[in-house]
Amino acid sequence: MTQLLTVERLSKTFGGLEAVADLSFDVSEREILGIIGPNGAGKTTAVNLISGVIKPSGGRVLLGGKDVTGHAPHTLVESGLVRTFQATTVYAGQTVRENLLRGAFRDIYPGLLATLLDTAAARAARHRTFGHVEEVMQWLDLARVADHVASSLPYGYQKVLGMGIGLAARPRLIMLDEPAAGLSAEETDHVRDTIRLVRERGISVVVIDHNMRFIADLCDRVLVMAQGRELARGKPQEVLRNPVVIEAYLGKRYAQAHH
Ligand SMILES: Nc1ncnc2c1ncn2[C@@H]1O[C@H](COP(=O)(O)OP(=O)(O)O)[C@@H](O)[C@H]1O
Ligand SMILES: [Mg+2]
Repeated sequence: MTQLLTVERLSKTFGGLEAVADLSFDVSEREILGIIGPNGAGKTTAVNLISGVIKPSGGRVLLGGKDVTGHAPHTLVESGLVRTFQATTVYAGQTVRENLLRGAFRDIYPGLLATLLDTAAARAARHRTFGHVEEVMQWLDLARVADHVASSLPYGYQKVLGMGIGLAARPRLIMLDEPAAGLSAEETDHVRDTIRLVRERGISVVVIDHNMRFIADLCDRVLVMAQGRELARGKPQEVLRNPVVIEAYLGKRYAQAHH
């Protein structure tokens, strides 16, 4: 498989705290990589570093073989890397369709002058964008609420919409920070099915969660983090059986429930 994302010896210190330390991993095309670990393990910081929200203290990030370390988030979106946030981030007062069109902004404005002149090229680009947004709504089962205001949707749908805004930008890789946090079992299933569908469209996924069950069912490989570092990695079933992981992360409760 071709490597799409390569993270090399990434680190970030806040004052004296090593939030991410010497972290290396890669993500292949069409792969779903899970990152799990307890609160404070450094998962969100890792995503922030990769997506350009904060700058690393050390290490490199390569996308499609190109060094993109420290690039601004919007530059990375143009390079095909998008991420969602742990907290739901939708435009509350706008409809589902309007939210998705915002995600596709770079398609709508392919050149300001062309847009102002309303050239045939600009019209064609707009047409393609609207088509793509309709398609994203189909994948995510949002078409029937296309004209609903985002804030009126159940929380689970708002989370899926947040993912949709990222997908509207036509990424090669999407990083999802706790897409199932706070969702009901049914909503969690919907999110999981949606992530599988995203991969089937040829998009790579990095998904963070602390629900081992959710990650194990979904991911090709899992990276376990603790205190900023890699604790283990491998196929979900290997990681689930790894004594180091069971002891350090899953704890007694998990071990008892499974013996
Ligand atoms: N901007 C920041 N300034 C200082 N410390 C931070 C900052 N962001 C995160 N941290 C600290 O870094 C560690 C890792 O946090 P985080 O990446 O949010 O963990 P996770 O997402 O795995 O729960 C925590 O100890 C957290 O308090
Ligand atoms: Mg986090």
